[in-house]
Amino acid sequence: MRADRYKHLFTKELLMGPNAVRLLEEMLENHPIRGGRVLDLGCGTGLTSLFLARETGAEQIFAVDLWIPATENWKRIREWGEERKIIPLHADARDLPFPEDFFDVIVSMDSYHYYGCQERFFAEKMLPLIRPGGRALLLVPGLKREFEGDAPELLVEWLGDDISTFHDGNWWRNHIAQGCEDRIEVEVFETRQFEQPWQDWFDCGHEYGLDDQKFFSRGVDQFLSFIAIAVRVKEGGLSAPCSAIST
Ligand SMILES: C[S@@+](CC[C@H](N)C(=O)[O-])C[C@H]1O[C@@H](n2cnc3c(N)ncnc32)[C@H](O)[C@@H]1O
Repeated sequence: MRADRYKHLFTKELLMGPNAVRLLEEMLENHPIRGGRVLDLGCGTGLTSLFLARETGAEQIFAVDLWIPATENWKRIREWGEERKIIPLHADARDLPFPEDFFDVIVSMDSYHYYGCQERFFAEKMLPLIRPGGRALLLVPGLKREFEGDAPELLVEWLGDDISTFHDGNWWRNHIAQGCEDRIEVEVFETRQFEQPWQDWFDCGHEYGLDDQKFFSRGVDQFLSFIAIAVRVKEGGLSAPCSAIST
């Protein structure tokens, strides 16, 4: 695995949850990035931006995050020698400062569920930024399947209010397509990897990771999976409905 080249960076200072570098590598196996301008949305400390810069053909990567200051990420980007490719930015995914049709690919690892559960979020906030023919690769922690009634107490205890952001693949497929069914193709799959990304998080010794590990030892993992979502924006996506109306 190419992710293993970055093992020295899987530390409690840099990891912010289950190891997104490993999961990104897996997503890229079937959905490679061969060039273009990429948005790494909710990039955290920038580990996935580094992987995109070194292990894909991406020419330019905008590393955008809300909780981590851009200056902190810029310092790391310079230490990594990737300042020509990676541009750090402090911004909110709900109000991004980019022009329309700007990105070839939007990547978002373990972040989209914090803001993307809003109604029609993809149609209104993501789609305008992606050029026709472009893509989004989104990875969220989620459920193996939705619950019929109330969620199990253990899961509620672990997630608190964040429980409303955990869903299964079918839910995500329908949710992403809201308001843009005719303009995108959505593929949703569970990742092959589950244990190792979590194990890296527990092993790094971060206090939140150790807390998560306690819930895993009580069995919370039986409900969980990683949900990978690959979206393709159809060619001429924006102009097709308008030209249809005007003729
Ligand atoms: C669990 S961390 C994951 C970070 C990184 N993607 C990774 O996997 O290591 C979630 C990230 O989502 C970002 N985030 C949450 N809400 C956001 C928002 N509204 N706009 C941009 N980023 C957001 C946070 O700043 C945080 O870095």
